[in-house]
Amino acid sequence: MSSPDNSQIRFIKRPEGPVGADSFEIISGPVPEPATGQVVIRNRYLSLDPYMRSALNNVENLGRPIEGRVVGQIIASRHPDFREGDWVFAMGRWEQVSLVDGAAARHVNTNIAPASAYLGVLGFTGLTAWSGLKHYGALRAGETLFVSAASGAVGSVAGQIGKIRGLRVAGCAGTDDKVAWLLDELGFDAAFNHRTAPDLAQAVARACPEGIDVDYENVGGMVFDAVFGTMRYGGRIVVCGAISQYEREPRPCVPNIGDFITKRLTMRGFSVRDHAAEIYEYIEEAAGWLRDGKLKYRETVVAGIESAPAAFARLFSGENFGKLVVDVG
Ligand SMILES: NC(=O)c1ccc[n+]([C@@H]2O[C@H](COP(=O)([O-])OP(=O)(O)OC[C@H]3O[C@@H](n4cnc5c(N)ncnc54)[C@H](OP(=O)(O)O)[C@@H]3O)[C@@H](O)[C@H]2O)c1
Repeated sequence: MSSPDNSQIRFIKRPEGPVGADSFEIISGPVPEPATGQVVIRNRYLSLDPYMRSALNNVENLGRPIEGRVVGQIIASRHPDFREGDWVFAMGRWEQVSLVDGAAARHVNTNIAPASAYLGVLGFTGLTAWSGLKHYGALRAGETLFVSAASGAVGSVAGQIGKIRGLRVAGCAGTDDKVAWLLDELGFDAAFNHRTAPDLAQAVARACPEGIDVDYENVGGMVFDAVFGTMRYGGRIVVCGAISQYEREPRPCVPNIGDFITKRLTMRGFSVRDHAAEIYEYIEEAAGWLRDGKLKYRETVVAGIESAPAAFARLFSGENFGKLVVDVG
């Protein structure tokens, strides 16, 4: 193996409120040797995802490297399906070199898209958008889809799938640049800046003058309050995430329960983990959309493993734009 060092980011302090760099330390560990059935991956990209924030509330994780999805190249294999140099995706850790079971790794095709895309648009974030809408959205052409955190890794794919399926699509994002991207590049029919809108309910109503049939919910909190009042008869609320409450006590968010009856609404949470087996079906469909220019994506790429802790905080301040990855180099 080429390097004796394996820099790792470990979790050392539970954050109270917004996560900061002091919750992490960087240490130098050994490069692991694979046992039978295992492979060693030299990570090229690490995925930084909002769900990781909940792992930082669990003191049992103190002292451990942060777990996360990685894309990289095999540098040692004792699994028959993998050879040195293969590009793979796996659940690894925030480290330069990850040891994983070969059965849990999968090849990625870097001829279809750059390797980093397999952490975003062709990875589990894309699958999250696709599977949530497919299984719980019951999309019908001509209806209106609303997406919160719409310029993000999941939201941007959800909105574009809505357009591909023939819906009218509206959404919100946290900067004017992001809103412009939704409107000018992704083909959203309406979008607004949720951080500067003086009245969120009015902003949603203006963006969706006929109401919302499907809400793809990524944010919760005040954004969701505004969306809920705009739901139409028969509407479906697909609860993907609630990022507004990951760094603070959940704000009680109790919609008027009577609306579920009078408007025949449904509200359903889901986890992409329940749809992991659909990843190949998703990649096949999404790769076609990428090739045809129907699916576009953005990434924020941060250089160096030591940058991961500070970059992670950007997910909650909205400083990322699209999928946030670390280029381990
Ligand atoms: N159910 C599942 O299986 C599953 C799987 C993956 C992800 N998710 C969820 O999907 C959502 C999006 O994840 P992602 O990976 O695509 O992240 P992302 O949208 O790329 O990045 C997070 C974005 O959320 C927005 N945000 C952060 N704090 C906010 C707040 N207080 N109020 C409003 N917006 C806020 C920011 O965008 P703005 O600049 O637009 O504010 C930020 O850029 C998250 O809630 C995540 O937990 C769920």
